[in-house]
Amino acid sequence: MSSASVVFPDDWVWGAATAAYQIEGAVRAGGRGQSIWDTFSHTPGKIVNGDTGDIACDHFHRYPDDIALMRELGLGGYRFSIAWPRIFPTGSGRPNTEGIDFYRRLIDELHTAGITPYVTLYHWDLPQPLQDRGGWGNRDTAHRFGEYVQTVAAALGAGVQHWFTINEPWVAAFLGHWTGDHAPGARDFRLALLAAHNLLLAHGEGMAALRSEMRPGDEAGIVLNLAPSEPADDSNADLEAAHRMDGFVNRWFLDALYRGVYPDDMVRLYGDAMPEIAAGDMDLISRPTDVLGVNYYSRSVVAYDPAAMPLHTRRVTPPSARVTAMGWEIFPSGLYDVLQRVHDDYAPGRLLVTENGAALNDVLDEGVVDDPAREDFLHEHLLQVYRAVQASVPVAGYFAWSLLDNFEWAWGYSARFGLIFVDFATQERIVKRSGRWYSEVTRENVVGA
Ligand code: FCB
Repeated sequence: MSSASVVFPDDWVWGAATAAYQIEGAVRAGGRGQSIWDTFSHTPGKIVNGDTGDIACDHFHRYPDDIALMRELGLGGYRFSIAWPRIFPTGSGRPNTEGIDFYRRLIDELHTAGITPYVTLYHWDLPQPLQDRGGWGNRDTAHRFGEYVQTVAAALGAGVQHWFTINEPWVAAFLGHWTGDHAPGARDFRLALLAAHNLLLAHGEGMAALRSEMRPGDEAGIVLNLAPSEPADDSNADLEAAHRMDGFVNRWFLDALYRGVYPDDMVRLYGDAMPEIAAGDMDLISRPTDVLGVNYYSRSVVAYDPAAMPLHTRRVTPPSARVTAMGWEIFPSGLYDVLQRVHDDYAPGRLLVTENGAALNDVLDEGVVDDPAREDFLHEHLLQVYRAVQASVPVAGYFAWSLLDNFEWAWGYSARFGLIFVDFATQERIVKRSGRWYSEVTRENVVGA
C-alpha cells in the first residue's frame, strides 16, 4: 500500500448489485408468473433491438457459478432483488413454494460463500395480474405489496438481515407512467404522480411487514436514485428550474420519507395533478427506517424551458462533459454532494451506496475485456465516497452496478454495466479488467488516491 492511498473503515461493505428481471431469465420456470416487464419487453418497439429478459444471464440456473465469481471478486455483500411474480404468480392467493425455494437456495449459497445478502423487494417487476387491476395507479397494489413482503420476510428472514423495500420509486413512477420508457409504458403525468404516491405507500406497508418479522440488528429501508441538480447558467430562470428538478427527483421522496410531507413548492406546481392523500398516508410513508440506499449515476444540469410541461425544465449536457456510452455525464463529485446533502438535510442513520457504475462500449478481444474507463469511473467515485466518510457522513458500504452485464431495461443488451462481461450467445462470463481491479480493492480495503 502506497502512502497515497485511502483506507476504508474496517467494517466497510464492498458489494455489487443486480435486479431479478435483468439477470434471472427462466421467466417460465419454477412457477413464475408474468410481470409488467415481460409484457413490455415483448411489445414491439419498446426495447432496443427487441430484446427481452426471457433468458438474460440465465442466473436462475447459473447462480452457483455466479456466486463463485462473486467470491473471485472478493465481495462481502451482494444486493439482488426478489421477483414478486415468482412468489405470487397471480399477484395474490397462495405463495409459490418453488419461487421461495429458489431464493432460499440462493441465500444459503451466499452464506456458504461468506457473502451477505442485501435484498430488494421491488425492482420494477410488478405481477401483470396486478397491473390488470390498475397497477401502481391503484392504492390496493400497496396493500398487496405489504402481503408479499410479509410472506417473503417470514419465509426468508432467517437468512436476511438487510432489506430494501422499493428500488427507485421515481423511476418506476415517472419513466413507467409519464415518459413511457419503462413498463407499463403509460404517458400520463397525473397517473405518474399517483403511482409515486402509491409506491411510497407500498414502502410504508413493506416497512410495517418487515418490522413484524425482523430481529434485533436487522435493518430495512428504501433505495432512491438521487442526483444533484445544478443550473445550466446563473440566470434566475435556470436557478429556479434546477430547484424544481431537485423537487421533482430528490425532495419529493426525501421530504415525504423523512419529514412526512410533500414539498410545498412542488405541491403548488403540480396543482390539480396532485393525487388524493388520505388521512394517515404520510405517517405510513414516513415510518422510521434504518438505512437509506443511494443510487448515483450522474448529476442533472438544468435549463428553463417554457415548452416543457409541467416542470418547465430541461436537462442539458454541458459541452465539456465526459459521458458514458449512454450519454450520462460522468460527474464523480456529485456522489459526495448527494451523500453530504442527504446527511445534512435528512440525517438517515445509515447510508449505503446501493448502485454506481457506467455503461461503456466493452469489447471482448482474445478472451479479455480491457475497460480502463470503467476502472477510472469506479476509482474516481470511490474517492468521493471516501470524502463523505471523512466528513462523518454515516455511509457504510458501496455496491457497484453491476455484477454482470445484463438486460438494461429499455436499452436491452446494448448497454453493458458489468464488472463481469457476459457473452449472451454462450452465457460465458469473463471478469473484466475493472472487475479484477475491484477485487483488489475489496481484498485490501484500500483505494489509490
Ligand atoms: C438504475 C436501476 C438499475 C440499472 C441502473 C443502470 O436506475 O436501478 O436497475 O438499470 O439504473
